[in-house]
Amino acid sequence: MIKRRDFLRTAAAATAGLAFARRFSPLASAQSSSGAQIEILLDEVLGTISPNIYGHFTENLSGVIYDGVWVGEDSKVRNYGGIRKELVDEMRKIKPAVVRFPGGCFADSYDWRDGIGPRNKRPRRTNFWAFGDKPPAPASHRYDPNQFGTNEFVQFCRLIGGQPYLAANLRSLPAEEFYRWVEYCNSPAGSTTLADERAAAGFKDPFNVRYWGVGNESWGCGGNFTAQEYAVEYRRFTTWVPGYNTELSFIASGPDGDNRDWTRDFFEEVVRKGKDQVRGIYGFALHHYAWNLSRGKTQDWEKGKGDAVNFDPVDWYEILREGDRVESMIVAHWQIMGEFDPDHHVKIAVDEWGPWYKPGSELTKGDQIEQLPTLRDAVFSGMTLDTFNRHPEKVGIACCAQLINCLNSLYLAHEDQFCVTPVGHVFAMYAAHQGGKSLRANFTAPEISYDRDGKSASFWGLKGSASLHDKTLVLTSVNPDVSQPVEAQVAIHGAQAKLATATVLTASDIHAHNTFEQRDAVVPKTQNAEIRRGGVNFHFPAASVVKLEIQLA
Ligand code: AHR
Repeated sequence: MIKRRDFLRTAAAATAGLAFARRFSPLASAQSSSGAQIEILLDEVLGTISPNIYGHFTENLSGVIYDGVWVGEDSKVRNYGGIRKELVDEMRKIKPAVVRFPGGCFADSYDWRDGIGPRNKRPRRTNFWAFGDKPPAPASHRYDPNQFGTNEFVQFCRLIGGQPYLAANLRSLPAEEFYRWVEYCNSPAGSTTLADERAAAGFKDPFNVRYWGVGNESWGCGGNFTAQEYAVEYRRFTTWVPGYNTELSFIASGPDGDNRDWTRDFFEEVVRKGKDQVRGIYGFALHHYAWNLSRGKTQDWEKGKGDAVNFDPVDWYEILREGDRVESMIVAHWQIMGEFDPDHHVKIAVDEWGPWYKPGSELTKGDQIEQLPTLRDAVFSGMTLDTFNRHPEKVGIACCAQLINCLNSLYLAHEDQFCVTPVGHVFAMYAAHQGGKSLRANFTAPEISYDRDGKSASFWGLKGSASLHDKTLVLTSVNPDVSQPVEAQVAIHGAQAKLATATVLTASDIHAHNTFEQRDAVVPKTQNAEIRRGGVNFHFPAASVVKLEIQLA
């Protein structure tokens, strides 16, 4: 399935739009560049930041569910009814709004009925990921024991305080099974045979699952459909599905990367039956993985990837540049969606995002599609969350791929070992934005220039997002420069700063990461920030993610 990225189209690099350049030199002294400015406009509210853009993704893939989330009730690993306790305790700190399950590609191979009923009676099945990817799944993850199914997933969501987002199988199950899964989850106590089955498992009251993905990557592993074919299936699967007492929000499968034809063709087909057909879509999925570190030399999915931990500064900038394309994708697909849905009823669901490196860095040897997040991925994640914050009217849901033991993971775990990655710390920092009013924030900073195969390339120097929560202003930003800090004045138009604290995530080595043995190599530190001229003056360290929490007078 992965081969489909061979068809990935490249879009124009994201806009940098910055005034002047600073030279990249890995040996440059830590002298801050000056002249940077951040202007926050209190009277320019862009919208409300949905907590759902701080969502997660847990696929039944290698060590994500089994070993990551689920350890089993009899495990020596501390657990809440089989669910890893340390994971739950950490997740409570980040206010996880939604969690997507069971895939990903796995979803279109999954029969939800295999994962309900008494655990000792559940069937063992071949996992979607058993043989299809390189390297194949380790023997321990090839066969799915179905110990973690709908009940356990909903229980996990309840423990962490998030909402379930279930991804339904459109490729290999009939529409009726989708209908029945909704019935199992949402039909009132005592009303249906499936509600009785749910009650027998200890869940008398309905789960009231609101978010349902209707297939995943339906252009590829989710059925190899054309956009028109998928649109027809989408309409058939979602028509007249009762929600019981829950309003169902369906998320349609979006394009392969930035393929704008898919978006246009899908919506064109949907509205062929009438303009109001868009009302049956809550979200339209965009997936964005940054993976190509070849600097334009190849589009080959295997050859184009780079190493997660051993990289040069140029790879740092290149992965950020690739990741930053998500902003132009959001804007472009939103515009196309608007041609068919002028009221913009349908929101974008970036329900898979993150960097994707080649195998080799996994902490648990043999785990498939697992990588070790470094400070680079923290900066990547801060940059991406800032992008979502800046488009609150467009992005309704976003899920980082994936929560644990996978790509851009917040946590890594194996048996009784556990650590929070730098990405996990970014989510903890950025949780402060949830539910806030997104404000226009203009960043002006010297551009970074770096050597790209003998030619000079550039990247923006400082960027972020701001949100207002009563009298508290939250400003987050990343300084992507590998070697130079930036001194910036934060000007607040419409209020005066009274007090400010800064939380800073950085390290002296851009490759820094946490491991089971060194859990705290990269952790955020909090300090006071200087109030100056009614705003805040701050020194943004090189290669950092910074949150300023500013109390307004
Ligand atoms: O996150 C891993 C895989 O990437 C997902 O299963 C799929 O949707 C995507 O291609």
